[in-house]
Amino acid sequence: MARKIIIDTDPGQDDAVAILLALGSPELEVLALVAVAGNVRVTQNAHNAMQILEVAGRPDVPVYIGCERPMRHPLITAEYVHGSSGLDGPTLPEPTTPFQTQHGVDYIIDTLMAHEPGTITLCCLGPLTNIGMAIVKAPQIVSRIKEIVLMGGGCFEGGNITPAAEFNIYVDPEAADLVFRSGVPITQVPLDVSHSMLTTKARVQRFHDMGNRVGTVTAEMLEFFERFDEQKYGWEGGPLHDPCVIAYLLKPELFKGRHINVAIETASELTRGMTVADYWGVTGRAKNVNYLRSGDSDGFYALLFERLARLP
Ligand code: BDR
Ligand code: CA
Repeated sequence: MARKIIIDTDPGQDDAVAILLALGSPELEVLALVAVAGNVRVTQNAHNAMQILEVAGRPDVPVYIGCERPMRHPLITAEYVHGSSGLDGPTLPEPTTPFQTQHGVDYIIDTLMAHEPGTITLCCLGPLTNIGMAIVKAPQIVSRIKEIVLMGGGCFEGGNITPAAEFNIYVDPEAADLVFRSGVPITQVPLDVSHSMLTTKARVQRFHDMGNRVGTVTAEMLEFFERFDEQKYGWEGGPLHDPCVIAYLLKPELFKGRHINVAIETASELTRGMTVADYWGVTGRAKNVNYLRSGDSDGFYALLFERLARLP
């Protein structure tokens, strides 16, 4: 039976590729996409999610709108990475279906309560605001979540928005703190993994050569997306962060990591949003996270090519 997932997201070119990877994979049943404020404002993120569903020929997947801003701090967005739409690059079809009217947080709560405990996995590709709010509003959901697999944080690679913090955690550290302390089984895909998943010219060409609509759109998205990190780091491509979350569900053997304690810094101005990863077990704090440290980038891209080729 396919694994049921809810994708909480702020698309984002890399979020978009993650969504496409999930839709191209029969092992996964995408129950819904829930938008969160992050790369751009939440309604624009929801719109972007619907455009990706159109590209994939799956406008039947419902899209919910979640929280407009982080729990405590003002929203910080990332148009400088993703473009003014949040999803610059290709010309995308306009959505043909309306948003769902229920709030995204209530959808998450109701869905977890309506399904057997331990059957729904939350895939988190943006700030953790919706999940944090769902836990505050309905703490009884905690024991019903099978697993949270999230992209966020870093240890060995440092941060990408400050020297200490990665964007998704930095935008809403209070929500991240709640999630990391919740007791839900968590797998964390940090920058330590995603920074090795570089697009490269040859890999983008593979998407162009795929011959389907999804391949062309993916190539055009990545050509826009990679320019920022190429300039910043001097790399030969951009890091595909969020698709690692879905790839981990499909092929966990592509990744290496260990169970450790990870705590979120919420107080310090200097290091706010840092994922303090006790990789060497020096604190004695309880292990709460399956922390992925590295991944097989050729295997990861082979999976992407194979699955995205199945889409229209
Ligand atoms: C994360 O930040 C976003 O801009 C990307 O979509 C990804 O989720 C990487 O730091
Ligand atoms: Ca994202």
